Amino acid sequence: MARANLKKSAVRWFVDEAPEVVGEGVGRFRSPLAEGAPAVSIALVETPAPTGEAIDPDFRPIPRFAKDAEGKHLIRIDTDPTVSIYGTGEVAGGLRRNGTRQVMWNTDSFGYDKNTEALYQSHPWVLAVREDGTAFGVLVDSTYRLELDLTDGVFFTCCGGDAPLVYVLTGEGPEQVMRGLARLIGPCPLPPLWVLGFHQCRYSYMSQDQVLEVAREFRARKLPCDVIWCDIDYMDGYRVFTLDSEHFPKPLEMAQELEQIGMRSVYILDPGIKIDEAYKAHASGLEGGHFVRQADDELFEGSVWPGPCHFPDFLNARTREWWAGLCARFVRETGAAGLWTDMNEPAVFEKPGNTMYLDARHEADDELGGPDVHARYHNVYGMHMARATQDGLRHARPDKRPFVLSRANHLGGQRHAACWTGDSTSSWDHLAYTTPMALNMGLAGQPLVGCDIGGFSKDATPELFARWMGFGCLLPFARAHSDKETAGHEPWVFGEACETASRLALQRRYRLLPYLYTLFFEHMRTGLPPMRPLFFADPTDTSLRDAEDSFLLGDGLLVRGSVREDNVRMAPMPKGRWLRYEPAPDKLGATNPHLPELMVRAGKVIPVGPVIQHSGEYRIDPLTLVVCLDDEGHARGTLYEDSGDGHAHQSGDYLYTSYAAWRDGQRVVVGIEHAEGDRSRPARAAEVLILRPDGGAPVRAAGFGGDTIPVLMPE
Ligand code: NOJ
Repeated sequence: MARANLKKSAVRWFVDEAPEVVGEGVGRFRSPLAEGAPAVSIALVETPAPTGEAIDPDFRPIPRFAKDAEGKHLIRIDTDPTVSIYGTGEVAGGLRRNGTRQVMWNTDSFGYDKNTEALYQSHPWVLAVREDGTAFGVLVDSTYRLELDLTDGVFFTCCGGDAPLVYVLTGEGPEQVMRGLARLIGPCPLPPLWVLGFHQCRYSYMSQDQVLEVAREFRARKLPCDVIWCDIDYMDGYRVFTLDSEHFPKPLEMAQELEQIGMRSVYILDPGIKIDEAYKAHASGLEGGHFVRQADDELFEGSVWPGPCHFPDFLNARTREWWAGLCARFVRETGAAGLWTDMNEPAVFEKPGNTMYLDARHEADDELGGPDVHARYHNVYGMHMARATQDGLRHARPDKRPFVLSRANHLGGQRHAACWTGDSTSSWDHLAYTTPMALNMGLAGQPLVGCDIGGFSKDATPELFARWMGFGCLLPFARAHSDKETAGHEPWVFGEACETASRLALQRRYRLLPYLYTLFFEHMRTGLPPMRPLFFADPTDTSLRDAEDSFLLGDGLLVRGSVREDNVRMAPMPKGRWLRYEPAPDKLGATNPHLPELMVRAGKVIPVGPVIQHSGEYRIDPLTLVVCLDDEGHARGTLYEDSGDGHAHQSGDYLYTSYAAWRDGQRVVVGIEHAEGDRSRPARAAEVLILRPDGGAPVRAAGFGGDTIPVLMPE
């Protein structure tokens, strides 16, 4: 990539003199150099109705547009060096992206590290936070390959297409900018509760028996878990939508047996369809004209796991419908609870750039931009595969919330799929990448993000795996996974001490489910990701801007650990009072040293449930309200509840409760301040824990879930 400052001086820059205001604090800028219609890039972007407000000229940064000698459109936003930059999507390395360069081009990046320029997903979006805590965001609405240079301001080079529209979002702070982003690209829909449980994966569990064995082992060892994943070896010769009849002879029986012990399975799908006359999915794809063609009109052929394949044209609505039909049938035949779309950058072995030819043709829908070349649609191929797969789950089970995990995706793709950080390595460096990667995904509009706990390739050690479980179980999506021929990443593989730490990490996750689920509900209203960088606690405190081994869950809980082998905790603490709380103490009543500390912010109430083994046992009985009073003796918190799946919550079948705690003389009183939704309040026990600033054991009191609970405080 050429350096930004060279390009800056070599070209003439223009500004849009009359940007449109498309929402509160959101301006849409058009390049004066655009020759034709702007690229339609973020599919289905929901643009709010114009409000007609003027943009405050002193407040917004102004994008400048130019064209370089090769005809590439350039977009530049000058920022002062004190501005901290985040949110550029899936990148390995530090949380603060200043000084880095990155390529937005979905790429199968096995073995990536912090120097890898392009990973699996593209998020042409930057969140910038000024020294004083005010913030702005820049969204470049292009699906083409983009280069982003943050060595001197924000500098995008568009490697194709006409000049994209640029949205600039301004806000008093990062939270307002994130709200604006969610209004533009939509929030992540509320996942079913089981998705927030723990997931166990392996490349691959080789048979139905092995899947069941692993599931039973979780139960026997009292390790909470919801899902066992089926990677590609369940297939017959890697043909998607087929099953190896010898090793997976009765998938529905497997699903039933899993269900009996409160487990589910998610199955992987790849886009490449094996070229094989006797293979139904291939024959119907061919017959329906669903495969991508080359510039010379021949079908594009490339190899993936099954050998030579054809590739569905997910940019086309008719093809998506065909794929959705195949998914729906597969879900009915296997009882799969969700689907996993992999290799959908698309990864194509032995082709230039390990992908489809750039001039291959997509019969894209008009609303996506109409028929055009792969270079234009590459970055949204995976997103549209995820979209079609999500449709398939909807067809098969209209009364359930669909769940898709996708490796490739694009800004806006959180509407269709969750994501994980791809083929990481079992190393301390990769553990260190995990938190900043997940945080930047959240800051790019994708809140349902996780990693391969333990790392994908190579072997983890007991210490590394335990520490990874500690962090991984507090990420929004928690799944352990491991490559072929490596040590498995089931929690018992690394011996007793590691299993104990893993059990505590899992118990913490399941105890915190009420809080996590509430944060996902609130995300739909606020656009804020459940997992947030530390600086969200105080955007004016610049010492928090680089904190990577600590993060916030919501605004009430701080996770503080170490990703270093020596287990030294580095991150600074935000100002104010934060008190330690351990939801799953070890036998001596302490926090396991492998796990990060959890701290509750003064003024917050955190709802916690009991330890359960899977989401099917979720009753929140007793409900524990963990209270950290502020200096005025107050605290507040919320709890969202619904049936855990389905859509009835959209027509009012939910309960959203605001709890308040206040000091009243020698007592602290905890009660319901406000409730919303038609769902009736479950009759259940409640327990209040008032955390003590002196670090002493919390003060406890018992009561009922709907009552006011007085807590007598010691002198
Ligand atoms: C690549 C994916 O990133 C990995 O998670 C998966 O196990 C393999 N493909 C095999 O399907």
